[in-house]
Amino acid sequence: MNRKGIMIALGLIVLAGAAWFVACAPPKSEPVKTVAIADGDFDPANWGKAYPLEYESWQKTKDPKPAGMSKYKKGFDTDNVIYDKLSEFPYMPLLFNGWGFGVEYNEPRGHHYMLIDQLEIDPSRLKAGGACLTCKTPYAPMLQEKYGANYFKDPYIDMHAKIPPNFQKLGVACVDCHDNKTLNPKLSRWTLNQALTDMGKDPKTAGRQEMRSLVCAQCHVTYIIPKDAEMKSTAVFFPWQGSKVGDISVENIIKVIKSSPANGEWKQNVTGFKVGFIRHPEYEFYSRNSVHWKANVACADCHMPYMKVGANKISDHDVTSPLKNNLKGCQQCHTETPQWLKDQVTAIQDRTVSLMNRSGYACAVTAKLFETAHKAQEQGKKIDEALYNQAKDLYLEAFYRVIFIGAENSVGFHNPTEGGRILGDAVALAMRAEALLRQALTKAGVELPADINLEMVKYVNDRGVKKLKFRPEFEFKDPFGIQEMLTPVKFSGLPAAPAPKAK
Ligand code: HEC
Ligand code: HEC
Ligand code: HEC
Ligand code: HEC
Repeated sequence: MNRKGIMIALGLIVLAGAAWFVACAPPKSEPVKTVAIADGDFDPANWGKAYPLEYESWQKTKDPKPAGMSKYKKGFDTDNVIYDKLSEFPYMPLLFNGWGFGVEYNEPRGHHYMLIDQLEIDPSRLKAGGACLTCKTPYAPMLQEKYGANYFKDPYIDMHAKIPPNFQKLGVACVDCHDNKTLNPKLSRWTLNQALTDMGKDPKTAGRQEMRSLVCAQCHVTYIIPKDAEMKSTAVFFPWQGSKVGDISVENIIKVIKSSPANGEWKQNVTGFKVGFIRHPEYEFYSRNSVHWKANVACADCHMPYMKVGANKISDHDVTSPLKNNLKGCQQCHTETPQWLKDQVTAIQDRTVSLMNRSGYACAVTAKLFETAHKAQEQGKKIDEALYNQAKDLYLEAFYRVIFIGAENSVGFHNPTEGGRILGDAVALAMRAEALLRQALTKAGVELPADINLEMVKYVNDRGVKKLKFRPEFEFKDPFGIQEMLTPVKFSGLPAAPAPKAK
């Protein structure tokens, strides 16, 4: 090929690329005329004077969403119920018994409620102190700078009282995600900046599409609250050390937890083990090679779709489940009908829930066997140490995988294959731990039934005044998991793809 030929070929490649991009990338919002907001102005109402449309849609996170749209993420809908995760997944109260998460653990709802819900939650969930405000108030970075170590360790209520009175119920605000002069997306949290730096990524080099996910990763990630000798909080950080952007694995997160001071954040009552915890790892899970991450789709593409308001096109700031806004975001790229897309989401989630239950109950059975082993030891029976230690290692590996997916808020959708991998490993690890423990107990002369009684109702119901009503439709009818193992997995199945919609 001569030089001209090469240039034409290159030109064609570029054109083909551009055509693909136009077909696949969501449309951009119209460039906004930026109005600089005064430094230190945190009040969304003032930002709203310059950007009334975004302000209006941001305020809508307060409104209940229509009921019946989402099978698993009911959140706050017109049913007016706050959904209790612990009765949806009864293995959770058994495994989390021993601290706040075993008392009250709710499905999320709109951004408007983040601080309000925190103020109303069972006080056992706020024991970590001021540290809990880190992703709940736009004032967190300011308070952390001003009060240093006290910000983390002082009682939650004391630190909360330092927020200016008018904003003590204000959740995520414009200033959390935007630069006040340029209105470009901006990271306001030291936690994320530090975590990215730890992975060798300079946060300042993040491009626009990356930022459309990173603003969410300020909060929708797992974190660690290390404690000092008096069990007072000393910091908040993300367990991403040794990982890379696009490859933060559950394995590596577990490794960091096990080697950090958070390994012992709380004591699991059933086993007596001191363990850590994993919270809402949306960014980590999504960004680990999911189909959409690979296609360069950002959180905002699905959760903040462009919408028309009169003659203007804006990003919808009423951040919610895509199932609750007719899958608007998806339709920017997919030509299938909303119903078809919704069925895909539900089918993925049904499969995930089936595996969640299997791995959750497998962990619960093993936890109860540890309880039995400890009782046997108290009665002077000798439990084989090597078998016990091996079982404990395997159990903890399974346990962290089970909480990782249980805490991730998309019920598998953000990364279905990764979800299957993690939960499949969890089932195998928990069952191997069970086998080893059974061997150790048999050796010690303890007789075990085939079905271990999980005492599920006790864990679901005995959790103090804050307990929400046990919801019978979520009752797990077969606490031993045997029947579920034998019956075929129930999921809604994959409907055939309909012909693409005419444009
Ligand atoms: C300052 C922290 C913070 C930031 C930044 C943040 N979120 Fe949230 N988000 C939360 C909290 C906390 C909740 C749960 C609120 C509750 O239940 O009271 C939540 C809830 C949600 C929900 C559930 C809403 C519903 O209707 O049930 C979605 C979806 C969501 N966030 C997506 C996002 C996306 C996408 C981004 C980035 C564009 C983002 N969030 C940025 C903290 C944050
Ligand atoms: C390809 C589209 C897509 C992308 C990209 C995406 N999500 Fe989601 N997300 C979904 C769907 C679908 C659900 C499930 C909603 C349901 O079941 O109602 C969901 C659920 C959630 C929920 C729970 C919503 C609720 O109502 O409780 C949160 C929080 C969330 N996503 C945050 C994020 C964050 C943060 C990112 C980026 C790291 C992200 N999502 C990326 C599609 C997406
Ligand atoms: C959770 C993070 C978050 C919060 C809170 C938030 N925004 Fe945004 N906003 C975004 C993202 C992401 C975009 C898309 C930016 C892009 O594509 O470059 C955006 C875009 C915008 C734009 C550009 C035009 C458009 O609609 O796409 C304006 C103006 C804007 N936001 C104003 C506001 C105002 C005013 C508030 C407070 C009332 C606010 N935002 C709160 C994340 C947020
Ligand atoms: C910015 C573009 C974009 C958006 C927005 C988007 N997708 Fe996708 N989606 C893709 C691409 C690209 C693929 C992979 C190529 C393919 O097979 O189409 C894909 C694949 C899928 C798949 C098959 C792979 C898998 O993970 O199971 C499903 C299902 C899917 N998308 C559903 C959704 C839903 C539901 C939404 C909205 C909540 C959504 N998508 C939003 C671009 C997008």
